[in-house]
Amino acid sequence: MTNPASQPSASPLNKRVGRFYLTEKLGVGSNGTVFRGHDPVIDRDVAIKILNTIPNAADKKQREQQFINEARAAGRLSHPSIVTIFDASSEGGTTFIAMEFLPGQDLRQMLATGKSFDIIETAIIIQKIADALTVAHANGVIHRDIKPGNIFILPNNHPKVVDFGIARAPNRLIDENRPADVTLFNNNVLGTPNYMSPEQAMGKQVTALTDVYSLGAVMYEMLTGQKPFQSNDIDKLLHQIANKSPKSPSEINSGIPESLSKIVTKAMQKDLTLRYQSTEEMSQALYRFLERDRKLKQKGGRTKAAPERNEKKKEGINSLLLLSGAAVIVAIGAIVISKFVH
Ligand SMILES: Nc1ncnc2c1ncn2[C@@H]1O[C@H](COP(=O)(O)OP(=O)(O)O)[C@@H](O)[C@H]1O
Ligand SMILES: [Mg+2]
Repeated sequence: MTNPASQPSASPLNKRVGRFYLTEKLGVGSNGTVFRGHDPVIDRDVAIKILNTIPNAADKKQREQQFINEARAAGRLSHPSIVTIFDASSEGGTTFIAMEFLPGQDLRQMLATGKSFDIIETAIIIQKIADALTVAHANGVIHRDIKPGNIFILPNNHPKVVDFGIARAPNRLIDENRPADVTLFNNNVLGTPNYMSPEQAMGKQVTALTDVYSLGAVMYEMLTGQKPFQSNDIDKLLHQIANKSPKSPSEINSGIPESLSKIVTKAMQKDLTLRYQSTEEMSQALYRFLERDRKLKQKGGRTKAAPERNEKKKEGINSLLLLSGAAVIVAIGAIVISKFVH
């Protein structure tokens, strides 16, 4: 336990929620503000998310309870790529969750500063996230807001997903209690809709397949450096998400293997029956891609990514040419030698 006399120095913000001392503001998000904090009982740093509340909202209590219930459900999930939740509670009028403090940057910050991921790194990171989502879905938790800002990449490249289930729920898209002049996106109530699934964009009920789509959209950006849909006009963006198909990643960058590009396209299908039917199925497709690449590397193939069928064909033709070249040289040599011998 920490000496109480040392507590003020752990609290430059001079604020406390529950037993936690807030030390630094980390950022403001769509449904709350996140602080770095210190837990004096365990003597470790934590991240505290404090829920934004509308002071006189008729359903304030209900929202707070929903936030706590969802955080508690997420807190029961256990996976190396899911952030650990320590506490979720409402104390002294403040509703908050305390979670593992994550070092490093979130993927949004990384992509914004020009960090690029190679094909294999991307497939490994996305597969780990798909596995984390599979555990969540098996426990009845749908994330609903998979986006780069909710994915931390630790210094060893291991991903951790935050904000499980506590983010936007489909029924919160249509919110009768919100003032008429506040539009949910333009006033940044819901953050960016770039990674939203078509069913979310249309305000429909969602299933676990919404996470499959959003994970596909994140993978799209990691591979191509571009968001699948781009518009500064929120309504246009939502319309595109609901109705248009983005260019496939391999059309944008021919260096992206067709088989990996197809994984993104299948995850982002608007028709739910054409999408991967689970994050588990998506993870298996990524596993097969990575295995194929590993085997090819073992055979001394390419180092960056598995060759595609066309390239395989090209490689076959090249070896044939090489072999026939060698045969011609041997034949000429034999003729020359036989001339000398006779
Ligand atoms: N567990 C954590 N550890 C460290 N930083 C965090 C943690 N959770 C969130 N943050 C940071 O706090 C800021 C606000 O997060 P959040 O409110 O979740 O935003 P958003 O609504 O965009 O997801 C972001 O910069 C995020 O990177
Ligand atoms: Mg977040």
